[in-house]
Amino acid sequence: MIRKIKGTQDILPNEIEKWHEIEETMRNVAKIFNFSEIRTPIFEASELFHRSVGETTDIVKKETYDFKDRGSRMNTLRPEGTAGVVRSVIENKLYTDPNLPLKLYYYGPMFRYERPQKGRQRQFHQFGAEIIGSNSSLVDAEVINFAATYLKALKINDINIRVNSLGDRESKDRYQLALNEYLEPNIHNLCEDCNRRYKENPLRVLDCKVDKDSETLKNAPKPLDYLSDNAKVHFDQVIMALDQIGLNYTIDKNLVRGLDYYTHTVFEIDSDLETLGAQSTLVGGGRYNNLYQSLEGPDLPAIGFAFGVERLLLALEAINQEEVKPQIHCYFINLGDVFENESLKIINQLRRGGLIVDYDYFNKSLKAQFKQADRMNPRFYLIYGDEEAKKGVVNVKPTNSKDQVEVRIEDLYQYLINQLTQNTGCSSCEGCSGCH
Ligand code: HAM
Repeated sequence: MIRKIKGTQDILPNEIEKWHEIEETMRNVAKIFNFSEIRTPIFEASELFHRSVGETTDIVKKETYDFKDRGSRMNTLRPEGTAGVVRSVIENKLYTDPNLPLKLYYYGPMFRYERPQKGRQRQFHQFGAEIIGSNSSLVDAEVINFAATYLKALKINDINIRVNSLGDRESKDRYQLALNEYLEPNIHNLCEDCNRRYKENPLRVLDCKVDKDSETLKNAPKPLDYLSDNAKVHFDQVIMALDQIGLNYTIDKNLVRGLDYYTHTVFEIDSDLETLGAQSTLVGGGRYNNLYQSLEGPDLPAIGFAFGVERLLLALEAINQEEVKPQIHCYFINLGDVFENESLKIINQLRRGGLIVDYDYFNKSLKAQFKQADRMNPRFYLIYGDEEAKKGVVNVKPTNSKDQVEVRIEDLYQYLINQLTQNTGCSSCEGCSGCH
């Protein structure tokens, strides 16, 4: 039997409601913050990720899914969404929009060849957002607020926002020198991977998962202590804006992030919820002011974040949310000959009007049809047999009461709509699924 590939997951029908909730909330919050969606390809030229995420990062070094296409070009399944958005903004000249900054969000599968565990997969989903074309520190705070607001909308309240600054080019150069000087006599204390990283890109030593709690790394210089005057002003303003918004955050001097493109503000939000296990970071992001130019685009400062959707689902598991059983509007119980009577016509008319209607395809007994109906959780049973067919009516029985009324077939749709809207007070209803 062929099985799914390690680190991938089927999303089954009984799990899909939670995904829809995550996606719907994402679109609602994106709308409130006035972001538009962008969709980019799932695979790109490998070079894009080498030049953006960085040659020496774990992602590019060990985790990308690379393949040669039939024309011998090297392609990579996207390990993250930012690089594709940057490529697309440059290629489609979206930056010529007079209404900068661009505020874009994206959602979809990403691929990293990591060791699978709870909250870490080889195919996973990200919801990401990017603001492109503004250097304002208000934008940094806006992006962090967007991420925090989304978590609040999902009722994930047990969160820690950690922020730090890597500074501009000048700050990063100064920091790099200090880090090199510090690591040179100490690098022998660290693992083999760290020794390789030290030679290739010393900043990446700070990502080490093996030595992250070692005295050597704990005592290493911190980027925040090497900020240029401009970078310091920028970060101070971000902090002032976060304070004004009223977000709780901590400054985490050790936060550097695992991708090479960051400058200035970086942030992560994690949660102590038990269901997350070791992978407690729900979202990570930061500013990347030099990436557009390094990919031959214009000088466009930008900042963004990406959530791991599977981790959001794990977080939601911990929150004692009442299971909402999906509901349909009507289950049509047919007691006569479906090919002779009008049942298919009636069902179709109700569906065309937007009502969710289901029925039995197997010519089951009355009892079995009721049983099947109850599994679907309808608001109404519609009962239709030879007697009703003769009279041109349908028997409508709400599932939450003993009443039953005969309704003429031509009045049936309007009758059901009236009943559905009466109970919810929803005035704009055309039989939408909100009417439950
Ligand atoms: P990242 O920190 O590599 O950043 O990933 C962001 C989030 O994706 C993580 O915090 C985590 O929730 C989720 N994630 C990453 N890898 C996996 C995995 N193997 N399985 C499950 N979830 C995972 C980025 O990707 C940047 N592009 C974020 C960004 C956008 N920075 C600026 N703009």
